[in-house]
Amino acid sequence: MVVPMDEKRSMYIKYIGILVLLCLPMVGILGLFLSRNIITPNDEFFVVSKGETPIVSSNTWNLMIEGNVNNSLTYSYSNFTSLPSKEILATLQCVDGPSGTAVWKGVSVKELLDLAQVQPGAIDVVFYAADDYSSSLTIQEASMDNVLLAYEMNGELLPAEQGFPVRVVAPDHLGYKWVKWVVRMEIVDYDYIGFWESRGWSDNAYRTPLSDWILHAELLAISFLLGGIALMSGLKRSPVTNFFQDLPKFVNKKFHIVVGIGYLLTSLSTFFYWVISTILNRGAIFYTVHGITALVSIVLVIPGAITGFKKSKKRDQNKKTWHYKWNITSFYLFLATVILGFSLIFIRWLYFY
Ligand code: HEM
Ligand code: HEM
Repeated sequence: MVVPMDEKRSMYIKYIGILVLLCLPMVGILGLFLSRNIITPNDEFFVVSKGETPIVSSNTWNLMIEGNVNNSLTYSYSNFTSLPSKEILATLQCVDGPSGTAVWKGVSVKELLDLAQVQPGAIDVVFYAADDYSSSLTIQEASMDNVLLAYEMNGELLPAEQGFPVRVVAPDHLGYKWVKWVVRMEIVDYDYIGFWESRGWSDNAYRTPLSDWILHAELLAISFLLGGIALMSGLKRSPVTNFFQDLPKFVNKKFHIVVGIGYLLTSLSTFFYWVISTILNRGAIFYTVHGITALVSIVLVIPGAITGFKKSKKRDQNKKTWHYKWNITSFYLFLATVILGFSLIFIRWLYFY
């Protein structure tokens, strides 16, 4: 059959349009990921605190270093800022999603620990803030070259809401280890459990791909593309609609099954990877509406796949198959999950920045 040019053109426009829509989440998240490595100006940097910002004056501020050390130390602001300093580029990532990157200048915690002469048997360094907040790092973690007590951010004095006069910078750890308004460092010989840590959050708080929502969103956006292609290729073979009937010849049953299995495997494995990582990082999984639609859509992927493998008897041409019903419902919920995922980012952006 010869297809007229006009029809061919509108067919290309239709499928290119659908593919662009299916790729949008993937491209959007990649963009978000890449933009995170760019320095965030101080006035656009997100703020997360347990309460009000305490007002600390550099005239009265002192830093005490004490506990299991041979040489307890106290610094005034001018003494502290005259110590040898270093600058590092590091990303502050909150366990709740937002993140920002800045150049931080300050004093290496390792050098402070060396000056204080930590005693054998010491386990943790506890950082106490002016507002009663506290958190800890192990001696080994705090002695990493990239851990600072910073007093400058992007070439300016640390803003009050970012911890003036001094905050912890611990690039390999999540934001709740980056204690602000630090007034005291205590070296202790036990495993100290800090403010958020005692409320169920991980004590080691490592920043890994597991702690970052970006990875689950990017992988599931790829699943979304596969799901969309599986749906189109399935519908091409369905008597229920003729909207996808003009798809090319290579979109056959085998193609449908391969893409369908791709969708099944990527969505299930990423989902469980993400759920396990949320449990590991938070000690619990908190379901938002996004989490609930995610869970239901993933549960429905399973009967969707099983019914695809069932040997089909002669089908009633006017009736939707169970394979059709499970998969359509699951895919629409997956779409809702993706939209809610972006809404979550938007709401957090409004709230934190
Ligand atoms: C593709 C676009 C998506 C974006 C932008 C996105 C974004 C997010 C964000 C920002 C969070 C909160 C992270 C945190 O609290 O640390 C989250 C959590 C979660 N996402 Fe997604 N997500 C997307 C897709 C999906 C999909 C397709 C699923 C599964 C089908 C899914 C499952 C989950 C689950 C289970 C959670 C944790 C539970 C919760 O906090 O509600 N996400 N997502
Ligand atoms: C585990 C993977 C999957 C397998 C093994 C599978 C298998 C099949 C088979 C054998 C058919 C009948 C094709 C024919 O008669 O030539 C079919 C049709 C169909 N598939 Fe799948 N499929 C899978 C995944 C999916 C997914 C993920 C979707 C949607 C997101 C989907 C949507 C459909 C639809 C809408 C039809 C047409 C149903 C009808 O006859 O009305 N399938 N599939």
